Amino acid sequence: MFTIITGSQFGDEGKGKIVDLMSGDYDLVVRFQGGNNAGHTVKVGEDVYKLHLIPSGFLLDSRVLIGPGTVVDPEVLAEEMDMLAEGGIELSPEKMGVDAKTSIIMPYHIELDVMREAKRTEKIGTTGRGIGFAYIDKVARDEIRMADLTSKDKLLQRLSELAPSKEAAIRELDGNPGIVMDEQLIDKYVKLGERLAPYITDVSYEVNKALDDGKSVLAEGAQGTHLDVIHGTQKFVTSSCTIAGSACANIGVGPTKVDSVLGIVKAYITRVGEGPMPTELFDDAGKQIQTVGGEVGTTTGRSRRCGWFDLPLLKKAIYLNGYTSIALTKLDVLSNLDPIKVCVSYELGGEVLDYPPEDAADLAACKPVYEDLPGWENDLTAVKSFDDLPQAAKDYVLYLEDKMGVPVDYISVGPAREQTFRK
Ligand code: IMP
Repeated sequence: MFTIITGSQFGDEGKGKIVDLMSGDYDLVVRFQGGNNAGHTVKVGEDVYKLHLIPSGFLLDSRVLIGPGTVVDPEVLAEEMDMLAEGGIELSPEKMGVDAKTSIIMPYHIELDVMREAKRTEKIGTTGRGIGFAYIDKVARDEIRMADLTSKDKLLQRLSELAPSKEAAIRELDGNPGIVMDEQLIDKYVKLGERLAPYITDVSYEVNKALDDGKSVLAEGAQGTHLDVIHGTQKFVTSSCTIAGSACANIGVGPTKVDSVLGIVKAYITRVGEGPMPTELFDDAGKQIQTVGGEVGTTTGRSRRCGWFDLPLLKKAIYLNGYTSIALTKLDVLSNLDPIKVCVSYELGGEVLDYPPEDAADLAACKPVYEDLPGWENDLTAVKSFDDLPQAAKDYVLYLEDKMGVPVDYISVGPAREQTFRK
């Protein structure tokens, strides 16, 4: 069985929690794109794990893999391994693998990302983790791969070839070119390479072999559909393909192997960083959602922008991903809001649109057209089944399900494992 999970909005839909919950049914859990720009929080009992790279799913028996389409900051990976080890979770090479072809985020990628963003007149609001510049190097065939980190000679040879252009690029942005060939940094990366060497694997082979042997694989996306570098709200996007088809290309597994695609959908919408968001709220309702939902970025600590559910954007996400089912998260956050609004279409230049326009500036100019649904006052966080939800909350779920045309399989009403139930 091969299942792909992606975020349907702008990321932060609660993928980590759902993957953690489902991973017990999967032998392999694979991250297929992005890097430590992602952030997920997994809560088990009183333990809370905030992770950026290591796939959720490490807590159960699944083997977790970091695929060749990701960009990896080895220092962050090592820190996460240490943090888990402190909590008694040892990630041995039997438990975790990193593809040999994975691109490494080098210190100069981070420097370039931060300096470039500082110079932009119209900001993107990147996470400053070097993601975009690591992907630029992958496409330019100038990347350092995981396999290059394992020997100092290999790394030095590669770096000395790349150094002049990297140093010039940093100089042009008024950054510090010295970091490219900094001896201490190189030594640090060599040590990280030595530590990670036993984890190096061929993810595509592992996944295909597992599927051949009748095992099950879960591909875990990062960020969200509308941050996709091709189909998102450019230029306010991340630098990788975040939609379901990208799992096949990035892992190296044929589309004929996919059995199901689960979309993670938050019961409202949030966005971190810049870019259009037609239903963004600037009023008390928005503040309430932000506070009750704890809508603060796991990676950067920035407040997330909050808004009402946006059906046109969701419709596009369903087209782009081909969802076979949906997990609706954070339903509890909408308690004590009445009415609850759902954006069913947009008005743009006198026209009514039920699908987002292609151009980000047009999307930014769209005025949402809302339908009002009755709210509920009850606290939902202890609810254990769909039947136990108050009628207005049930109606909200059924309304969205009907409009989306895709079955809602899971509903979550809080961060803990036991706060997610099947519908
Ligand atoms: P980058 O991925 O750091 O280049 O940032 C590009 C855009 O994607 C910015 O608006 C970020 O805030 C956003 N972004 C990147 N990763 C995530 C994520 O995991 N969740 C939500 N937004 C993200």
